[in-house]
Amino acid sequence: MKTHRIICPDDWHLHLRDGAVLRAVIEASSSWCRRAIIMPNLVPPVTSTADAEAYRQRIKAADTAGSGFTPLMVLYLTEQTDPADVVAGFQAGIVTAVKLYPAGATTNSASGVRDMRAVWPVLEAMQTHNIPLLIHGEVTDPEIDIFDREAVFIDKVLIPLRAQFPKLKIVLEHITTAQAADYVLSAGEYQAATVTPHHLLINRNAYLAGGIKPHYYCLPVAKRETHRQALVAALMKDSGKLFLGTDSAPHIDSAKLQPCGCAGIFNAPNTMACLAQLFENHHHLDRLEAFCSRYGPAFYGLDVNTQTLVLSRHDTAQPVPEAVMTDEGQITAFDPQMDIYWSVAGIE
Ligand code: DOR
Ligand code: ZN
Repeated sequence: MKTHRIICPDDWHLHLRDGAVLRAVIEASSSWCRRAIIMPNLVPPVTSTADAEAYRQRIKAADTAGSGFTPLMVLYLTEQTDPADVVAGFQAGIVTAVKLYPAGATTNSASGVRDMRAVWPVLEAMQTHNIPLLIHGEVTDPEIDIFDREAVFIDKVLIPLRAQFPKLKIVLEHITTAQAADYVLSAGEYQAATVTPHHLLINRNAYLAGGIKPHYYCLPVAKRETHRQALVAALMKDSGKLFLGTDSAPHIDSAKLQPCGCAGIFNAPNTMACLAQLFENHHHLDRLEAFCSRYGPAFYGLDVNTQTLVLSRHDTAQPVPEAVMTDEGQITAFDPQMDIYWSVAGIE
């Protein structure tokens, strides 16, 4: 069996939730990544440095395996966010970034931002102190087709925001379109984006063709195949501006399999196997490490990890990981609908 070694990855966009779900899912990430940007859309959201510190402690306590996994905490931006609290949290090493959810764009985004001007003082302080802004880039206008909401966001919100704050570090999260890839690659050094495994592997047929498939429903929704191909092509260009953010977003199956089911794909259990397969299929296994382990730390101004992740290449296709069981019910893992010959052997 062949192995492939890379610098241990990080996950620059992860939902761990809280309580029983947190305790059940953390190992699916800590088994392959050393640090993760932890999304703050809990109920209620993580809006202050004090909230972030309390949540960080709960995550550390849930890591019973003592894996050494480091959560990087994020504040949920609201129109009431205090710039001084953001700066103090960042300077104290508690807060790594701030997340902008347009109000109503996705799961638990009701406390998000309606009027961008209301948060300009926070963004001004973040630009001054080099604090990254992470953006869920979709407009919420019900008149805009859901397949166009990311592209419209770039034109209507992101480009004007960038003009207002030219040196603000911005990560456009979980990009799904050719327009987003083009924008990020052509924007300057203060602009980057995360890409999820699922948006690199599935298109909209996954949840719409042959019956409605809630386990493939996430936000932003996966687009048509040409967009998936554009994301893969952008990734293979090795620009240094795209890095791994899984957006692994666990929901209990009973919350997804509903007339109005939750958005989110739980991919943490097979992220690295899927990505190794994708890069191998494109004859660029050599570029896996940069995407998963180098470009993210470089943008955030952090050192790369010192440990190594060992991946195994099997001769036969490997089974899709089981669902994870929690005290609240089962969470089904992502099935990429393709043969995967890779698995994680461990961290050295
Ligand atoms: O699919 C998604 N799930 N997209 C998001 O933006 C939020 C996330 C969640 O929290 O479940
Ligand atoms: Zn997310």
